[in-house]
Amino acid sequence: MDYDAIVLGAGGAGLLAAAMAGQAGARVLVLDHADRPGKKILISGGGRCNFTNTGAEPGCYLSENIHFAKSALSRYTQWDFLALVERHGIAWHEKTLGQLFCDGSARQIVAMLLDECERGGVEVRLQARIGEIGHADGLFRVAGASAPQLVIATGGPSIPKMGATGIAFDIARRFGLSVVPPRPALVPFVLGPEAQPFREIAGVAVPVIARCGTAAFAEAALFTHRGLSGPAILQVSSYWHPGAAVVLSVLPGAAEKLRAARRAMPRSHLRAVLAEHLPNRLAEVMAQRIGAAREMANLPDTEIDRIAGALEALTFHPTGTEGYAKAEVTAGGISTAELSSRTMEAKRLPGLYAIGEAVDVTGWLGGYNFQWAWSSGVAAGRAIAARRG
Ligand code: FDA
Repeated sequence: MDYDAIVLGAGGAGLLAAAMAGQAGARVLVLDHADRPGKKILISGGGRCNFTNTGAEPGCYLSENIHFAKSALSRYTQWDFLALVERHGIAWHEKTLGQLFCDGSARQIVAMLLDECERGGVEVRLQARIGEIGHADGLFRVAGASAPQLVIATGGPSIPKMGATGIAFDIARRFGLSVVPPRPALVPFVLGPEAQPFREIAGVAVPVIARCGTAAFAEAALFTHRGLSGPAILQVSSYWHPGAAVVLSVLPGAAEKLRAARRAMPRSHLRAVLAEHLPNRLAEVMAQRIGAAREMANLPDTEIDRIAGALEALTFHPTGTEGYAKAEVTAGGISTAELSSRTMEAKRLPGLYAIGEAVDVTGWLGGYNFQWAWSSGVAAGRAIAARRG
């Protein structure tokens, strides 16, 4: 036995799990095929890493078992991670909606994690090929090393050009663990030809309330050459399934606003009224689509209500998403039914753990996914140390 634990994946979850276990005395090896650790951290948050969210709580996560994340999130919170950031002297700021970013660079978060690993005597081996994983006599054998504990922390297949793979799911299946079908999430939508007028206003952004099923997010939407993007759209994409509608309110409170405009600008046409509230090009597309040719003064209440309905429920049926190439995360993954919510250890194969994005727990946009990586990583790291002790 060479190590107490081998961690597969030097992303946020794997590095923090390794550091925790190492600092508690475990001998830990981290393996990653990349040429440097924490690549997704480095590109996250526009290079400043939105490392957590002050509002992180279980309701901000999707999973087949919505209760699963509670334990880990409550035992290592956003405030615990923030305390770690502050101990390392990393300056940070809150941008919007509770999202915390580095003032400087995401490189500081990776350096912090590597420093924590070093303190725990963790060995990080990069450009390593995982290959076949053996398991016999209570030991996992991988890449020429062996240990009684193995952590799957290789994330999901989002952004394959950065080296992301679905190997976590292959390993899980190899050990008999079920996998909730993975799908791209936090991902832009592709729209069909019926949405051509909106594709022609690519680049226009507007604050909306975006809805898909029961999910609703008030943030910006962005029209693109292929369809829809922007934070509100990425948020609802995680709840979308093929065939489902995405409904945008581009003018919340539209009926009152239109009635006020009828009083204030009775001789104006709808296009001019909409331009008071919406970006010009969107106002034009919406006015054409709604087709109210009369002056505002001549619009009866029923017509105002119809127009308001169109503005509050602009409905799209995406033909699909832009897929893993553009998805910020992978939803689905190793089934939580297979894992202890306290330790992330596989119930039917003690010594095997799964953490981070590889697991069927997916956060909203805004620092929630890193918080899950930290919380689940710490849960496993502590358990590894405890088992060894
Ligand atoms: P992660 O993917 O980080 O790490 C997995 C590691 O495993 C990688 O180092 C990889 O090289 C390695 N690996 C994969 N396959 C392997 C194989 N076959 N062999 C060996 N090693 C392998 N979240 C957030 O909260 N705030 C943010 O600001 C952002 N921003 C953001 C921007 C972009 C562009 C993306 C793509 C994603 C984000 N995210 C985010 C999401 C966040 O990056 C993600 O949820 C976490 O990085 C997940 O951490 P993990 O450690 O689980 O996986």
